[in-house]
Amino acid sequence: MSERVLVRVPGKINLQLSVGPLESDGYHALATVFQAVSLFDDLKVSIVDKPGIHIRADGRNEHMPTTKENLAYKAAELMKKEFEIEDGIEISIKKEIPISGGMAGGSANAGATIVALDHLFSLGMNRDEMETLGSTLGADVPFTISGGTAIGTGRGDRITPVLTRGTYYWVLALSSAGLSTPSVYKECDRLREGMEVANPHVNDSLLQALTTGDPRAVGAVLSNDLQSAACSLKPALRLILDVGKDYGALGGIVSGSGPTVAFLAENEEHALDLVVALTSSGVVGNVLRAQGPVPGARVIESA
Ligand code: C5P
Repeated sequence: MSERVLVRVPGKINLQLSVGPLESDGYHALATVFQAVSLFDDLKVSIVDKPGIHIRADGRNEHMPTTKENLAYKAAELMKKEFEIEDGIEISIKKEIPISGGMAGGSANAGATIVALDHLFSLGMNRDEMETLGSTLGADVPFTISGGTAIGTGRGDRITPVLTRGTYYWVLALSSAGLSTPSVYKECDRLREGMEVANPHVNDSLLQALTTGDPRAVGAVLSNDLQSAACSLKPALRLILDVGKDYGALGGIVSGSGPTVAFLAENEEHALDLVVALTSSGVVGNVLRAQGPVPGARVIESA
């Protein structure tokens, strides 16, 4: 049995997010296409003498909760209960994925904690079991475990991998203040009031474009039903989307419930040009590059 494990987990972008009607459980039926991208959180998870669960921020993370609010805490609590683990657990989180950014940062920490505790206690869970347990903590958790490119149905928690060709080069425009996911869904319902809302569906053209590995075709069909709601709550996002497209992005989209905006570039060089252009435009504070698809939560070191 190991005493300490390091798990790396990626953030995600929704290449398509089709939002159906509000269901009686307070969730919306979704059809989404996720892609895991190379913006990673690293979680060092250790067995410690002190009982309970202890969350620490590794580096500057003043906005990350270190209390029971943190989804990593909830995941550890669930795993301890499910597998009758009595040892104390310390989870040190080094964050790169923006907090409340629409890139599943919180969910990623839950997914990584499940993978870490499975390894630390040699529980022998398979990926399906981890994803099923993860789905009880949040709709995005299963995808952070599976990674790659995948379709999400149900609440977005039922994952089917998608075969894709090539590497996609993304430029991410980060916002300093996050958006709360429930408030974006609520705004989406408000904007749709009185309208007939169709059942969600995955866009076949997107799947086809991903199979051929053509970034132009993928860029042309990116879509997000939450985008209007995110822009309504944060109008500056519209300007960011316009600027990115003016500077030649193949497509631009609010990621999930936002406020991160993801632009697709032709290749690595084009992505660099786009970073420079967006940074000098003055409309975005923090611009990062990422590539996808990348694998889901995985152990990278164990001692
Ligand atoms: O599952 P998670 O905790 O990430 O969801 C946060 C909130 O987002 C939910 O409480 C709900 O308001 C909204 N949501 C939704 N439909 C989904 C996923 C999330 O309405 N399929």
